[in-house]
Amino acid sequence: MIVLKKLNAAVIGCGAISERHLEAIVKAGAEIACVADIDERKAKKTAEKYKCRFYCDYHEMLKDSQVDVVHILTPHYLHAKMAIDSMKSGVHVLTEKPMATSIEDAEKMIDVSRETGRMLGVCFQNRYNPTSLKAKEIIESGKAGQILGAKAWVTWHRDETYYTQSDWRGSWEKEGGGVLINQAIHTLDLIQWFMGDLARLKGSYYTSLLENTIEVEDTADAVIQFKNGTTALFFASNCYPVNSPVSIEIVLSKAVIRLESVLTVTWNDGKTEHYSDEDLVSGDKFYWGVSHKRLIADFYNKILSGEKFELDGNEGIKALKMVKAIHRSSETNAWIDLG
Ligand SMILES: NC(=O)c1ccc[n+]([C@@H]2O[C@H](COP(=O)([O-])OP(=O)(O)OC[C@H]3O[C@@H](n4cnc5c(N)ncnc54)[C@H](O)[C@@H]3O)[C@@H](O)[C@H]2O)c1
Repeated sequence: MIVLKKLNAAVIGCGAISERHLEAIVKAGAEIACVADIDERKAKKTAEKYKCRFYCDYHEMLKDSQVDVVHILTPHYLHAKMAIDSMKSGVHVLTEKPMATSIEDAEKMIDVSRETGRMLGVCFQNRYNPTSLKAKEIIESGKAGQILGAKAWVTWHRDETYYTQSDWRGSWEKEGGGVLINQAIHTLDLIQWFMGDLARLKGSYYTSLLENTIEVEDTADAVIQFKNGTTALFFASNCYPVNSPVSIEIVLSKAVIRLESVLTVTWNDGKTEHYSDEDLVSGDKFYWGVSHKRLIADFYNKILSGEKFELDGNEGIKALKMVKAIHRSSETNAWIDLG
């Protein structure tokens, strides 16, 4: 019988998303060795709950010889440095999205992962939703025919309090953007995952209802072209009164695929199929998706087996490039090449 090693995990950032990761680490059968947060109260409270060590300086935590994997759950501008420091100290890294706030930093992370041989995973958990996987399977099987085009709408609610209560959200320097880099990046990732290799895009962004509160954009749109000759229309805003389910529609020559909370496939002959994620999370955070546990279990299994983790830096950078391209396109009124 092969006995697999139990991995020791650490978490940097004990904020809002940390519980999702900590629960998933336990579920994946790994040990939580330690946590770090500059806010000692949060670090201590989390360490008490998970009966582990805590640090206020992540550099000290990285000297903890027992750690195999670090989860980076901090404000966006810190991801690249923390990931690079972690991989250089010999541990695998799973970073929350976005992997970085600049393409240059994201590329450095990919280089360091290759040089150190440490795995770098990016948390786009919605790829693991059963409905997303089913949509991908139908598209790739060819039975729905050729892709003709797509549209994707993200209409969510982030009010002034969401930003004023945070010391990093809403700032170009620390968040790296607004609705695009924080909320809609998941949808940009799904669009390119479904549609294929990116060619170019033209887009625009602006700040509307939140213009007195944040520097970054609260609304954006884009026309995205792919190497297979198809086009996707994209719209995102944090100015909707509620968090509406993300809506993605992909038109193929033999069917139309609609992904909202449920997946609906309408075949040209009139037949309709419905699929739903079996374990939808209730409450107001449903829009975070239900699949952190699936992604984290897969990441840990791949570390143990030595197989490639699909959602690595080279995959994670694609949606970041789309975000940056929309920003640049808006500022220059030009198409931005993504090929
Ligand atoms: N995948 C998803 O669906 C999803 C959902 C929510 C948040 N996120 C991402 O998770 C990350 C964290 O978001 P959040 O909502 O938990 O933010 P948060 O502000 O609630 O938590 C961030 C934590 O990082 C800590 N921190 C800041 N600087 C630090 C440092 N130098 N060293 C150690 N700790 C430090 C803060 O004290 C805070 O506790 C972001 O990248 C965000 O985009 C992802």
